[in-house]
This record gives sequence, C-alpha cells and structure tokens, in this order.
Amino acid sequence: MTDTTSAYCGPDRILSGMQPTGGLHLGNYLGALKNWALMQDSGKQCFFCAVDMHAMTMEYDPALLPGRVRGVAAAYIAAGVDPARSAIFAQSAVPEHAELNWVLQCVARMGWMERMTQFKDKAGSGKDAERASVGLFTYPVLMAADILVYKATHVPVGDDQKQHLELARDIAARFNRDFGGGRIILPEPEPVIMPVGARIMSLKDGSRKMSKSDPSENARINLYDDADTIARKIRKAKTDSEPLPETAGSLDKRPEAKNLVGLYAALTGESIDDVLDEFGGKGFGAFKPRLAEVAVEYMAPVSEEYARLLNEKAEINAVLKNGAERARATARSVMTEVRALIGYWNA
Ligand code: TYM
Repeated sequence: MTDTTSAYCGPDRILSGMQPTGGLHLGNYLGALKNWALMQDSGKQCFFCAVDMHAMTMEYDPALLPGRVRGVAAAYIAAGVDPARSAIFAQSAVPEHAELNWVLQCVARMGWMERMTQFKDKAGSGKDAERASVGLFTYPVLMAADILVYKATHVPVGDDQKQHLELARDIAARFNRDFGGGRIILPEPEPVIMPVGARIMSLKDGSRKMSKSDPSENARINLYDDADTIARKIRKAKTDSEPLPETAGSLDKRPEAKNLVGLYAALTGESIDDVLDEFGGKGFGAFKPRLAEVAVEYMAPVSEEYARLLNEKAEINAVLKNGAERARATARSVMTEVRALIGYWNA
C-alpha cells in the first residue's frame, strides 16, 4: 500500500479508545494511556473515546455499561488526559461513528476481514465461532470508522492493535481510490506504539497478554489496586529460578523475566539495558521488591485520583457531555463530505 499520509493536507489529529468491558489495568496504562497524556503536548487536536459500542460485541450487561463508560473516562483523566485540551466522550454519543461504519463495511473486503486474528482468538472455533456475533466479526471496521470519522492521522495504541490499524489504513486507501477522485479524503492513520510497554504480559503466564478478561485477578495489576495489592501481586508473579541476565538478548527465552524487566523499564522510563546494568546477575529476591516499590510509586498518584474521580459522577458526566459535543462537531463535518461523495440521497 502506498503511503499517502504524507500527501494529506488536513490537520494532524490524534484519536484512540478503550473498551469499557471491566476495570483498566497496567497494560492499558503503559501500552496506551500514558502515551495519550504525553501526546496532548504535541499541539495536535486529541479525541479519546470509551468505545461502548465495541463492548456490545461480546455478551454484556446493559445496566452496567454507562457506569463503565464513566469509569473509563475517570481513568483517562487520572492518567493525565486533560478534558480542556482533549475531547473525552462515549462512542455511542457520536452517532456519526455508526453512520460511517456502514459506509466502510461496504468498502472493506471479506478477504481482509477473514485475516483478522483477534476475531479468531475471541470467537474460538467450530460451534463457538458460529455463535459469535456478527458485530464481533465486523468489529475492526467500526474501529476504522472511529478513527476515520475524525480524519485522525495518529493513533496511540498497544502492540495488539497493529493489525486493526493496518486494516483501517487499507480501508482509507480504498475509500480514497473509489470515491476521492484523485484526492486523499481520509488520511491513512499511523499507529503510535511505545518502544517499551506496548505489550505487557500476564503476571501468571509470560506468553499471554495482561488482559481484563483473564479469570485470575493475580494475572494483572488493576488501575484501582492499592499499594499492598500491587506489592503482593508482584511478589507472587511467576518467574524462573535463574538470576537476571546481563544482556537483553538473553531474556528472549525467559518470557516471565522479560515481562518483569519490561515493566520496570516502562514504569521508570529507563531502557531494558539500563535495567539489566543495575540488576543483571541478581535474583528475583532482590529485583521483585524494587519492582514493587517502583510500581507503587508510579501508580499510586494515578490510582488515588482514579478512586477519587469514580465518586465524582456529575463532574465526569459533564466532561463526557462536553467531549461529545466537541467530537460531534468534527465528525459531522467529515460525514457531510463523505455523504456527498458516496451518492447518498440529498434532495
Ligand atoms: P482495548 O480496550 O483492548 O485496550 C485499550 C488499549 O490498551 C492497549 N492494551 C495493552 N497494551 C500493552 N499491554 C497490554 N497487555 C495491553 N492490553 C491492552 C491496547 O492496545 C489499546 O491501545 N480495539 C481497541 C479499542 C478501540 C480503538 C478504536 C483503539 C476501538 N476503536 C480506535 C484505537 C482507535 C481495544 O479493544 O482496546
């Protein structure tokens, strides 16, 4: 696919989102949220949504969904996203996401969708896959709509979203080819992925991602965990019996050790080499207590603010309302342009 982003003349914009399917965890924070707060300083317009429509693709409780959206918004703010500079909103409050979703479903090709690995992971196989919702299958198209309805140029995400971003780029390119008349209407969005922290693994199994849906609470550090809980989970984290190596390459066959060293680096902002300079040759008995200290020190301000904001319903509701109004102004103007190009009835 040719890179058309450089030829795009519109403003740079940042968009990202998280599913309100449960409490957020350290992987969400280090892989994405931390970067969102930093990217606000770039001067680019920022849009951060709670993707409640995506949360409907698996079984869910409608009574819990609005509260979870509020929880996600509270986590964004606690992590440093500033509602004055960034629009924070619920995906479902901006109906243009759903409107563009349909247009893009007619642009995306079945072959592209069938290559999406996350659907296979989530839907399973055989009878399980037959019972999966159609929404789960078309999930990545709605994600492309989330991005393209703002003409977002940069999308800060964790490593697991790379394939979805490639699809969004393919969809944008195909839309431009079919409807742009030689112009780039929808820029191909660039994923922005942190060099360290983009893939935090489970504390119980270094080959699996840290995830909201892991049945074991000890597999993840939640954003709301207090200092004692964080320290206990790190103490109990799975490791091997070898001391930490002197060089990063030697971590490749030791997924649990690699994950804990990566966590330390992501929390402190040090490189993996720096961490190994300090801890190489030392055992986990020495490393884990330091990691716990660092995790508590860095996460405590975020989790305290998160806990405080969870009680400020009116304040968060006001942020979400204002964010949706600002987001909608941009999304509406993009949809006006799209509607004219695709031949929708306009008499
Ligand atoms: P979700 O809700 O699964 O995750 C939200 C963000 O957190 C990152 N992340 C991780 N990063 C590092 N290590 C981990 N273990 C880890 N787990 C999750 C994810 O990469 C993501 O950046 N499809 C998206 C939501 C979405 C979206 C969008 C994102 C919908 N529309 C538009 C960007 C733009 C998702 O399920 O994220």
